[in-house]
Amino acid sequence: MKKIIFLILLALSCFSAYALSGGKEKAMIEKNVYGKLQDGTEIYVYTLKNDKGAEAKIINYGATVVSLTAPDRNGKYSDIVLGWENLQGYVNGSTYFGAIVGRYGNRIAKGKFTLDGKTYQLSINDGQNTLHGGKIGFDKRVWKSEEVKSKLGSAVKFTYVSPDGEEGFPGTLTLSVTYTLMNNNELKLEYKATTDKPTILNPTHHSYFNLSGDFKKPILDHILQINADEFTPVDKGLIPTGVFEKVEGTPMDFRKPTAIGARINDNFEQLKIAGGYDHNFVLRNYNGKVREVADVYEPTTGRHMEVFTDQPGIQFYSGNFLNGTQIGKDGIAYPHRAGFCLETQHYPDSPNEPKWPSVVLKPGQTFHSTTIYKFSAK
Ligand code: BGC
Repeated sequence: MKKIIFLILLALSCFSAYALSGGKEKAMIEKNVYGKLQDGTEIYVYTLKNDKGAEAKIINYGATVVSLTAPDRNGKYSDIVLGWENLQGYVNGSTYFGAIVGRYGNRIAKGKFTLDGKTYQLSINDGQNTLHGGKIGFDKRVWKSEEVKSKLGSAVKFTYVSPDGEEGFPGTLTLSVTYTLMNNNELKLEYKATTDKPTILNPTHHSYFNLSGDFKKPILDHILQINADEFTPVDKGLIPTGVFEKVEGTPMDFRKPTAIGARINDNFEQLKIAGGYDHNFVLRNYNGKVREVADVYEPTTGRHMEVFTDQPGIQFYSGNFLNGTQIGKDGIAYPHRAGFCLETQHYPDSPNEPKWPSVVLKPGQTFHSTTIYKFSAK
């Protein structure tokens, strides 16, 4: 009898603990103070966990993913994104580790464009051009943050209101990005934006992946596949020349899975200009729907990442500007090409290429976009 009463009490207490925690989803997000900016503003880190044991840590400075774990073929979860050791690193750094980049990700020639007959001059921060939103892009802003209830996993939403004229961009732009760590090991990013005046917009996510989990090792052995028959060749300032070039017969051909390092040092002008891969690929089947666009496999651990997006392009950047001077997490000096980025986006300099898909957002319209990074092992 005593035993039965004990079991009933145990069942009741388990149930109430579950009910009090609001069910599984709620228990899987934690919010903690990550650090303080010089003016005293507290920055928070959200730890998202899923049923399988994956974990993403995201801060509301730059809506930045500071760590993300994925399983190897033995089920071992390791961090697979480069990052700085603390908030100060993100404040001082210029690598865009893990950040949301905006208002316009990638480059705009001479920081100039014309919209509805008016020419705008943006702030210049990359040679003669504007890169990733100008001197103080969205990666260096404090975003509002809130936990979101989702049956798909644990989710957090970040919102940034970019004032009219910030970095030279017209219109007050409100951008939100919701990150969901899904129970099937997908990290899903949903972007939503509105504006009060016509403006241009091209947000992207800038994680540097190293699926080996060993950030002392370059990513040259990772096997990459990109669903693109063409890319946008660039000039010396990495501004597209305005034409699409076939990847066929060149080191830009990733239609079949190929090691990133297999041809990176080939005597091919585009690779010389960029010091490796730093190019936008024209993704197949652009029709506004989410489709699989790229795939990466790391042979020693078996980690596998698939990228899905509704965007027309993807910037494949092979971490060419990492050079051992960036001291990241655990005090590791990140060597040349310690990480790669696959940034889903519109083609660079689109505001100056009228034939390319438009990046204009007008009042009354809502910009929606989805990108998914899906992790597994084989
Ligand atoms: C660009 C690189 C740039 C890097 C900055 C990438 O998105 O394509 O050219 O150096 O961001 O970290």
